[in-house]
Amino acid sequence: MFDPLVIRKQFPSLSLTVGKFPAVYFDGPGGTQVPQQVIDAVTHYYLEMNCNTEGAFLTSQKNDQMLANAHAAMADFFNARSPGEIAFSLNMTTHAFNVSRAIGKMLKPGDELVVTVLDHESNVSPWQVLEEYGVKVQTIDIRTEDCTLDLRDLDSKLTKRTKVVAIGYASNAVGTINPLKEVIARAHELGALVFVDAVHYAPHGPIDVQALDCDFLACSAYKFFGPHVGVLYGKQEVLDQLPVYKVRPAHDRFETGTQNHEGIAGALASLEYLAELGRQYGGNYFDRYPGMKGRRLHLKASLSLIEAYEQQVFGRLIQGLQQIPGVKIWGITDKNQLNRRTPTAAFTIQGFSPREVTEPLGKQGFFLWEGDFYAQALIERLGLFESGGVVRLGLLHYNTDEEVDRFLSALEVLVRRR
Ligand SMILES: Cc1ncc(COP(=O)(O)O)c(C=O)c1O
Repeated sequence: MFDPLVIRKQFPSLSLTVGKFPAVYFDGPGGTQVPQQVIDAVTHYYLEMNCNTEGAFLTSQKNDQMLANAHAAMADFFNARSPGEIAFSLNMTTHAFNVSRAIGKMLKPGDELVVTVLDHESNVSPWQVLEEYGVKVQTIDIRTEDCTLDLRDLDSKLTKRTKVVAIGYASNAVGTINPLKEVIARAHELGALVFVDAVHYAPHGPIDVQALDCDFLACSAYKFFGPHVGVLYGKQEVLDQLPVYKVRPAHDRFETGTQNHEGIAGALASLEYLAELGRQYGGNYFDRYPGMKGRRLHLKASLSLIEAYEQQVFGRLIQGLQQIPGVKIWGITDKNQLNRRTPTAAFTIQGFSPREVTEPLGKQGFFLWEGDFYAQALIERLGLFESGGVVRLGLLHYNTDEEVDRFLSALEVLVRRR
């Protein structure tokens, strides 16, 4: 059986204290903690393979092997066709700008791009800058009542002129998971490419780029228990046609210059951690993935297991928040619809600025973000920008019912004290 208390032992930073209070990490959407095996892998890199690539000697050969394995592991994580469809780099934002810059060279005045109000600015600005080519950027609105995409607006703005749809897998502010398959199929019917930002979604559920049929998908290892490294999936036939800038002798167009090898070693270890979780505890989910085996299957089962566990803890959180006077939760709250969102809650409290919530609770060991988290268009659309945005509480599979209960009690005391 999956036991979060056993899992937590593998994450040394979770035992931090703030004065007399145990730290409660609800800041996952901003970045996750790492298991010991990630820390060990980074150290091991420095001890045994700290070197550049493609040399005829031991450390370089070990480094090459590790890098090949890291690409293969990411291909497994995404269910990509081959490791050649994977590129590492600094972070997701850098990948998005690289892809947009390359696509920009193929655009003509009159072409259109589609972005959404729900997205993090890292999947908006890289497309807006292409207006310099004379293209028009259309923005899909949301339904403010539950912070889901307005699919009628999407339908009206997707046309034969649309060349790219840039869309998030899930919102890092309010947790909404977008109906990607539907959107991608519609975009492809019209001949548009689709770039998916999976940064927020990646630690919460299984990703299958073949089932989605997206053209690009980017995420960041520091959001799924690894170091600060960005990862890009690109469909091979699309990558082949993309006029990406590169240095003349370099093999790779997306991995410019020497990569963060130690970070990639850590990213590989984060996937090995997840795969082991799936292998050990995810047996009930193997049937969901016919045709997959080994690490690929274990990664899928792992994320299915995590999804089920997180939904249960999140249900408890939402139910508790709804009982605290003055709390308004932004996004889907219907308990039968919680599978349409990640376990990331955004809320405001009447009479409190978001900072007036996170600051006192921070002193009691609760690590929570407030603000817009670069989902600025969304926070503006909800009319919350001037008042400091929202409080964001993000759960991960290492968070527990007990932490949620402790948080709800502390929040209740804070609210009632006013
Ligand atoms: C949904 C989403 N997209 C993109 C980003 C940017 O990712 P990176 O820091 O890897 O550039 C973030 C970071 O918080 C995010 O949450």
